[in-house]
Amino acid sequence: MHFSSFTFNLLLITAAPFANAWPTAILQAAGNDPNLLARAEEAAKLLANRQAGAGAATALFEPVPIFNAKAQYINVTKGSGHEYVAPGPNDLRGPCPGLNAFANHNFLPHSGYASVAQYIDATQRVVGMGPILATFLSALGGALDGDLVSWSIGGKPSLAQGGITGILGNGLTGSHNKYEADASPTRPDLYQAGNDYKTVTAQFQELINYSPGGQVTMESLTSFRSHRFETQKATNSYFFNGPFTGVAVQPAAYTFIYRFMANHSAENPAGLLSYEVLQSWFGVEGTNGKYNAVQGSERIPENWYKRAVEYPYETTYFAADLLNAASLHPEFLEIGGNTGTAGSFTSVDIGNLTGGVFNVGTLLQGNNLACFVFQLAAQAKPDIALGALGALTGAINNVIGGLSCPQLKAIDQKQLQKFPGYTRMPVYG
Ligand SMILES: *[C@@H]1O[C@H](CO)[C@@H](O)[C@H](O)[C@H]1NC(C)=O
Ligand SMILES: *[C@@H]1O[C@H](CO)[C@@H](O)[C@H](O)[C@H]1NC(C)=O
Ligand SMILES: *[C@@H]1O[C@H](CO)[C@@H](O)[C@H](O)[C@H]1NC(C)=O
Repeated sequence: MHFSSFTFNLLLITAAPFANAWPTAILQAAGNDPNLLARAEEAAKLLANRQAGAGAATALFEPVPIFNAKAQYINVTKGSGHEYVAPGPNDLRGPCPGLNAFANHNFLPHSGYASVAQYIDATQRVVGMGPILATFLSALGGALDGDLVSWSIGGKPSLAQGGITGILGNGLTGSHNKYEADASPTRPDLYQAGNDYKTVTAQFQELINYSPGGQVTMESLTSFRSHRFETQKATNSYFFNGPFTGVAVQPAAYTFIYRFMANHSAENPAGLLSYEVLQSWFGVEGTNGKYNAVQGSERIPENWYKRAVEYPYETTYFAADLLNAASLHPEFLEIGGNTGTAGSFTSVDIGNLTGGVFNVGTLLQGNNLACFVFQLAAQAKPDIALGALGALTGAINNVIGGLSCPQLKAIDQKQLQKFPGYTRMPVYG
């Protein structure tokens, strides 16, 4: 009885996929536990009213504290086979600190060139990404940056690394506006700095400054993101907040920091992200006020526990984090850019961009944002025309299958022509 009324309320209050995101065992427990039920409904209401903080999704997606040391421990000690080994001169490393760390610890090949299957495995095993999100993000890398089967976490692989099809892909570093975005937390904007992958010590320090009290939280990361967004608008005449990169990749670069790098324990089952743990993951030496980023030295901390196995970070959870951030800072959803000078940010109309399939007034309602974001991913041009879109369709349908999405057929890339940060290397059309 409780079970069905709970599910019904949750469906009414939030969007359907949030209810689906609950592990079955938890849903059943909720059915028998009035306290849990009340807490979950409260969390769902806060989320639906969009009045909760940036981390509000935690209460909904991790309703009961769970910590299992044995299952969550990631062993990177000497002799584990996953001890840290610094990258050599030919190893590929790039803009994503997590992927760099996986390669440094041999959870991905040390070369930094890996297969889609290896990405799917490592992201789930090491940090607890949900299988649907892991498959989507891994397949996307293969389709956009590689040869469908494999891709590089850095730039173009060598012939020995990638083979004759692999060398045609530009890797994650080479996927600006496709799978790599402006206004990253610690990496600079490509057309402003000339690179998009080197950790900027000053930006790392800013992230810390935005996170007082010794810990980095969803709230602090979201405030920091707003600051980075405004700073890049104000200083980078090439700033471009692209359809997929701005709306999905940029927020992932922030939310993944807390959701995937925090350390878990019985006292902090949802995760606590200290400055020291963050430093390790980002390869930053020194202490607060005297940091020094060492390129390519991203490292999984010793004695570190990943998120609860029962609570994988799945597409639904990510979509809820996106919604919360966008409700606090609606400008995050503005697709557009500076028009040739710093501080000239102009946005395009989402209706014009999508042929009327989506519009800004309803983007935060129901499943629209999730439908929009995941379908946009397939609009970018792959590095190699190998029927990549076909390969991606499966992964995308997996994500949006149950959401009754309006079908996005194409985007009108003419709308983006006024942005020099786009036209320098157009990726749509
Ligand atoms: C971690 O790996 C090392 C080396 O294989 C092993 O001696 C140790 O028992 C492992 N630790 C745990 C907690 O499993
Ligand atoms: C993670 O938390 C546990 C429990 O508080 C602690 O013993 C461990 O040292 C922490 N790990 C890191 C890397 O901070
Ligand atoms: C966008 O759509 C509106 C309404 O449909 C139309 O009036 C306007 O001309 C369009 N703008 C562009 C740039 O296509």
